[in-house]
Amino acid sequence: MSAYNPPHTPAPSDAPSTDTGLDPADWSEFRAQGHELWDALVDQMSTLREGPAWRTTPADVRERLARPAPAQGLGLEGALAELKRDVLPYPYGNIHPRFWGWVNGSGLPAGILGDLAASAMNSNTGAFDHSAVFVEQQLLRWLAEMMEAREHTDGLLTSGGSVANLLGLAAGITAKAGFDVRTLGLRAGPALTVYVSEQTHFSADKAIELMGLGSRHLRRIPVDEDYRIRLDLLREAVRDDRAAGRRPVAAVGNAGTVNTGATDDLDGLADLCAEEDLWLHVDGAFGALAWMVPEQRAALRGLQRADSIAFDLHKWLYVSSDIGCVLVKDPKALPAAFAFAPAYLTPLRGGIAHEDGIAFKDKGIELTRRNRALKAWLAIQAHGVEGFAGAIAVNLRQTAHLARLVDAHPALERTAPAPLNVVCYRFVDPSLSGEALDDLNRELLVRLQESGAAVPSHTVLRGAFCLRVANTNHRTRFEDFDLLVEHTARLGGELLRELREHRADSWLATPIARGTR
Ligand SMILES: Cc1ncc(COP(=O)(O)O)c(C=O)c1O
Repeated sequence: MSAYNPPHTPAPSDAPSTDTGLDPADWSEFRAQGHELWDALVDQMSTLREGPAWRTTPADVRERLARPAPAQGLGLEGALAELKRDVLPYPYGNIHPRFWGWVNGSGLPAGILGDLAASAMNSNTGAFDHSAVFVEQQLLRWLAEMMEAREHTDGLLTSGGSVANLLGLAAGITAKAGFDVRTLGLRAGPALTVYVSEQTHFSADKAIELMGLGSRHLRRIPVDEDYRIRLDLLREAVRDDRAAGRRPVAAVGNAGTVNTGATDDLDGLADLCAEEDLWLHVDGAFGALAWMVPEQRAALRGLQRADSIAFDLHKWLYVSSDIGCVLVKDPKALPAAFAFAPAYLTPLRGGIAHEDGIAFKDKGIELTRRNRALKAWLAIQAHGVEGFAGAIAVNLRQTAHLARLVDAHPALERTAPAPLNVVCYRFVDPSLSGEALDDLNRELLVRLQESGAAVPSHTVLRGAFCLRVANTNHRTRFEDFDLLVEHTARLGGELLRELREHRADSWLATPIARGTR
């Protein structure tokens, strides 16, 4: 007998309508609308090269995009018209062949179909027995294999490198704290310290702050002239902390720093971490997957010795955002940091909550998780591992081509080594001081982006503002970099003339630079 007796079960005659009206009334109309949108998207993708790499979102569009939600729907036809008018024409730009800002994947057509299927299936990949979790598990194995990280048998997909770094560090801190941080909290033990290089991405700082260690317990170790962590200084810092009663727990190695693409001596780091009993987490957001290219393996030696490796598929696997990954060696490490077993989620001997399912919810923060795997899984099925290794190799050759073009140009200067897929450079002129050069290059970048010709981003290296190109773009061709160099030099020359003719007030930011005119 049921323990619960509803007070009143409405008879069919007095039941309210069960039709929410949210599914299409006519599926064939929906099919046609879908085809029409798909045509618009393919038109856009197949003609990207003819359009700008980026353009600003006009004021009238912004105004419409700030309006409140409509009380009465426009119908799908009307909503799609809004999408085509106000959204599709103003993308971020990373789908364009000449977008190399920050580090963004260009988006694979095969992956788009995977995402469409994932959205239609609408699976919750938190746990249980259904195809999406097995797809994710298979993808994790493929990824580990691509990096020959065969001991990394556990992991999960994340929204990106930031969360992958957070999860890897959380696993490390839980494992190495020496007391039960989950139950007792951090105040129950000595201050825990974590080590990164000066070039490590800020997501490590965020992770440390979020976990409550406090940013003053994150040690930023200086780098050498190639922007690689100084292992001698790291060892000193660890020993100083231990001598002061603090507990060193983890170090982060970089496989491709965000600024210059530098890779730390991961083998040396692994030795040091083994000696000092530290968890080694590698932030390989884009660099780790370069392992697929044999010539890159010497620089990445030691990658597989890391306890946890974080990387993004939405960077150098070109898949649409968002999809990152953390892989760990010890299959107990992530559950030790994240597992819970509430009554409503315990596995059963059969049914959807079958104990053979995979509890991704126990390996990270999210319970309800989207099916991120499908887009990457479909793309890898379509192109094969060699397809991706080949594309990364092409990007590396293109980047070397750009570095050579910059080096050969009298008005351009490379501001860092380019060991991977990142080139940092700037326009130079012997008559200009550091501050004026910074102002000029800042304005040059703005004009370059606003011209729509190309989108590098920027950074500051050893005090100098520079343009930064990170090539994780499967659509880029060698000649795109010829064009970039041509545009940079031309714009630099124009700005130099503006300076000399005292027409530069609108873009000269620093008073010192004004003084040097
Ligand atoms: C080296 C490095 N680590 C971490 C991240 C953060 O990754 P995400 O933006 O996917 O969170 C980035 C992003 O560019 C990165 O370059």
